[in-house]
Parts: sequence; structure tokens; C-alpha cells
Amino acid sequence: MRIDIITLFPEMMETVLSESIIGRAQKKGVLEINCHQLREFAFDKHRHVDDAPYGGGKGMLMMTEPIALCFEDICKNLDEKPYFVYMTPQGNVLNQKKLIDISEKHNNICVLCGHYEGVDQRVIDELVDEEISIGDYVLTGGELPTLVFVDALARMEKGVLSEDECFTKESHYDGLLEYPQYTRPQVWRGREVPQVLLSGHHENVDKWRREQSIINTAKKRPDMIKTADLTDKEKELAQSIIDANDAKE
Ligand code: ADE
Repeated sequence: MRIDIITLFPEMMETVLSESIIGRAQKKGVLEINCHQLREFAFDKHRHVDDAPYGGGKGMLMMTEPIALCFEDICKNLDEKPYFVYMTPQGNVLNQKKLIDISEKHNNICVLCGHYEGVDQRVIDELVDEEISIGDYVLTGGELPTLVFVDALARMEKGVLSEDECFTKESHYDGLLEYPQYTRPQVWRGREVPQVLLSGHHENVDKWRREQSIINTAKKRPDMIKTADLTDKEKELAQSIIDANDAKE
């Protein structure tokens, strides 16, 4: 997977993306991330990339041409046009399903980090394939949302996580939250690890984990139960947890 990021703060992005799992994946060559300084595509001597909005109003907008030139420069080195994502609080709210969908369909992704009061609408109409938000709150710029998006996307790419860091058995992947996990010591401050996990009986462990996953989701995120893929018996279990919780409130 190749990801190109258009930003006013490439050093900030590179610092974060060169660390830990994403940094290791780039060194291994399973992931390529390039950060592009938008100001290099400005055309006045002060390297402005923003201007006042027509019709008046507060703040500045990102201008069309530097973004278009930067994007075209990125495309020059690629066989296919990358999927162009603009990070904005107005976008589709990001979730695991959307990440799976994007990672399955696209190998080249370009992300524009928004700034100021946003971008000239014509950039969105002409170039952007999808606007994405990381949640219903507003940050000072698109860099942090882009880091969230890129991290979550890149870790699903084959070879980024090692075998034992597999992402298909974790919260949200199959529409449920994960089951509780335990490590040594077996007893900690009087709290014991559930017996079934010490039994060595894999079938029982799997059964217990599935059940705990449903209970956990019903308790913490009852909204997710509606769309989760559950058997009738599992639905009954989830509903009993939700009813017990409602009765407590
Ligand atoms: N830029 C500012 N806030 C944002 C958000 N919530 N999601 C994506 N981009 C943003």
C-alpha cells in the first residue's frame, strides 16, 4: 500500500509515522508513506496556500491550485490515480467497516489534511473521492485525523502486523467488541484469571470468548448488537444483558 499525504506540517507527520509498527512496516517495504509540503506548490513569494472566502466571513480557505498541482505531482509517479480522501469534520464518520472497504478496494491513497476554515469547494468537486471525519468534534487541523486514518488503514495491510498481532480477532472487526484478556500472574490482588482459560480446552475457550464478546458488547455498546451477526440464542443472551442494564438505570 502506498499513502501520500498533503499537509502543511510534513515533519510532524513523519515524526509520528516513522515510529513503532507503521515505521517498521515502512522499513520492511510493505508500506510506503510520503508526506508532501503543500507550500512547495504555492506560487507567490510568501508561499501562501490560503485566501479569504468570496462573500465575506471569518477565516481563510485553502486555495485550489496548490492542492491540484501537488496532487498531479503525486499522480505523475503512479500507474493509477490514487483514491483521494479529504479529512474534514463534514465527512463520512470513520469506522472499521469503512476502513476494511477502503483497504480492500485501493492500494494507492492520497490524503489531504484540511486547514483554516476548509478548502475551496471546487477542489472537493473536482478531485476528492471521499470526505472523511474521525468523529463529531472539531480539531485545529487535519493532521491528527489523518494520522488516525493512516494508522488504522495501514495496520490492515498484509505484512504490517505480525502473525500474533492479527487484527481479525479484535474489537470492531466482526461487529463486536473483544472478549476480556488476561496474562500472568494467575492471581493478582485476589482477582483470579477465569478457570476456563487455564483448562487448555480450546473449544471451551473459544465458546467462552464468543459469549464474553457478546456480553461485553451488550454492556458497553448496545447499539452495535442490532447489526452484529448473532444466532437466535446469542441475540437472547445480548437482550438479557441489555434488559438487566436498563433495569439498573
Ligand atoms: N479536521 C478537523 N476536525 C476533524 C475531524 N473531526 N475529522 C476529520 N478532519 C477534521
